Amino acid sequence: MASGEPSPGTGAARRPLHSTQAVDVASASNFRAFELLHLHLDLRAEFGPPGPGTGSRELSGTAVLDLRCLEPEGAAELRLDSHPCLEVTAAALRRELPGSEEPPAEPVSFYTQPFSHYGQALCVSFPQPCRASERLQVLLTYRVGEGPGVCWLAPEQTAGKKKPFMYTQGQAVLNRAFFPCFDTPAVKYKYSALIEVPDGFTAVMSASTWEKRGPNKFFFQMCQPIPSYLIALAIGDLVSAEVGPRSRVWAEPCLIDAAKEEYNGVIEEFLATGEKLFGPYVWGSRYDLLFMPPSFPFGGMENPCLTFVTPCLLAGDRSLADVIIHEISHSWFGNLVTNANWGEFWLNEGFTMYAQRRISTILFGVDPDDTYNETPYEKGFCFVSYLAHLVGDQDQFDNFLKAYVHEFKFQSILADDFLDFYLEYFPELKKKRVDIIPGFEFDRWLNTPGWPPYLPDLSPGDSLMKPAEELAQLWAAEELDMKAIEAVAISPWKTYQLVYFLDKILQKSPLPRGNVKKLGETYPSISNARNAELRLRWGQIVLKNDYQKDFWKVKEFLHNQGKQKYTLPLYHAMMGGSEVAQTLAKETFASTASQLHSNVVNYVQQIVAPKGS
Ligand code: BES
Ligand code: ZN
Repeated sequence: MASGEPSPGTGAARRPLHSTQAVDVASASNFRAFELLHLHLDLRAEFGPPGPGTGSRELSGTAVLDLRCLEPEGAAELRLDSHPCLEVTAAALRRELPGSEEPPAEPVSFYTQPFSHYGQALCVSFPQPCRASERLQVLLTYRVGEGPGVCWLAPEQTAGKKKPFMYTQGQAVLNRAFFPCFDTPAVKYKYSALIEVPDGFTAVMSASTWEKRGPNKFFFQMCQPIPSYLIALAIGDLVSAEVGPRSRVWAEPCLIDAAKEEYNGVIEEFLATGEKLFGPYVWGSRYDLLFMPPSFPFGGMENPCLTFVTPCLLAGDRSLADVIIHEISHSWFGNLVTNANWGEFWLNEGFTMYAQRRISTILFGVDPDDTYNETPYEKGFCFVSYLAHLVGDQDQFDNFLKAYVHEFKFQSILADDFLDFYLEYFPELKKKRVDIIPGFEFDRWLNTPGWPPYLPDLSPGDSLMKPAEELAQLWAAEELDMKAIEAVAISPWKTYQLVYFLDKILQKSPLPRGNVKKLGETYPSISNARNAELRLRWGQIVLKNDYQKDFWKVKEFLHNQGKQKYTLPLYHAMMGGSEVAQTLAKETFASTASQLHSNVVNYVQQIVAPKGS
């Protein structure tokens, strides 16, 4: 909400934000020139063969944008983010006319301009410039078939293998290939959508309400402002089951029982803990999960009211619930308080990691070392942990987090907005100049690469991780001490302990000849695991040790799912391995590429056949 309006519901003026001045280099739009009040999508989905040509699979219809001009001097055009795969066939403009209830929409001209490999600008020209604070409505008729924003899956690529499926993945900059918009997280707005589907299909969206309108139409409304990247749609052979007072699981019919079984009762507990810590859940009366087809490239995506998750989460033992807790945490960090551009991504993910671990600690006591290790996630988490350490008292810091969410809710911010607020909230820390403690300067945390200057105390996890480390040491020996090895029973170990053990084995790999064969035979629960985190690591170990007898497991795993965080490391390992491993990479890629998300295809391509090689 760029207009500097009073905060929702309070009437008090909100603090001025650094983010109101920030640029977003990833957007081609003139989003500062307008306030976007509402977006409506009226789309029809058809599942034909892959395009181009008539009758091929596509979404078609209109996008209607309600705008208010913010330029003091007026504006002569609206520039939106779009993509070459969107074919806009008409644009019309409705302007406020004195004395006219519903003024007519008049056709206006439009053109596109190149911007980058991930998008282009769509420029709508106004016959007369609009005046400062004038309200206008822009109607765009368009269609989109193949492209990076709308993913179409053939029946064979679904769990049930009977009907096709489509979904959208907006983050970070893909929704400009779904509908023309201000595709920047700096802008938030409410949306509604009417989606028409063929017989026997169900549509779901990231919206507060879900309404069936006749046999083939679904109507959605999001009652709170969100950034473009959080608008999401999926259409398929979908059914749902209740798993709590405000949550349902959605899945293909063949997965629904497993989904219900795995998540019955737990979502409410996660949500309620989040609310206690961070304030009300504002997204309406539901928090649903949608189990995606296996090629979904992420563990989870926090689409509001409807988190999309990989079917790998149906592990049968709730061992992967941390992904759900993570996505639920985005209900406050990311979805309610949002990074104003993708350079500030750690504000979404670092706070979410902190929130995820606060919820896990409260519910499960232990704070297991996590398995994800990417900078905005883990360094962001360390920075938030460091700020908590400066405060010294967990309750005080929890209260601060709640105040932070309240202060910035429904807005998009920069790190500086957050840091100003932190120092104001804790004046003693401000007086002590904690922002410039040599070696721990906030600026250094955020702007210099490298290992975090402070690591949170993870010692509560030591007693769980020590045995795993020691066992890995035994397996790295030239002469295996089977007596010592067999004395360690791993059957009571939790999945994250096994994960940690395998990470240590991988670090020590290649192991002396024959050890990996023996390892696999000794622990069939690892080498034949169905849990995706274990399958990933076993695959990495197999490749690093060139244990060719188990190469087929790598192949099977890559055929079974398409999650980016599993797929890329395995291709890296194959291409860094023996000739046999490299051949496996090329063959597997050739036979799975058509099933993978287009971003993942591009990344794998770079690994298997780097440009310029
Ligand atoms: N929002 C992210 C996924 C994402 C990040 C999509 C960047 C597109 C661009 C989501 O919340 C996430 O972080 N998912 C993780 C799981 C989590 C437990 C770390 C994943 O998919 O692995
Ligand atoms: Zn996340």
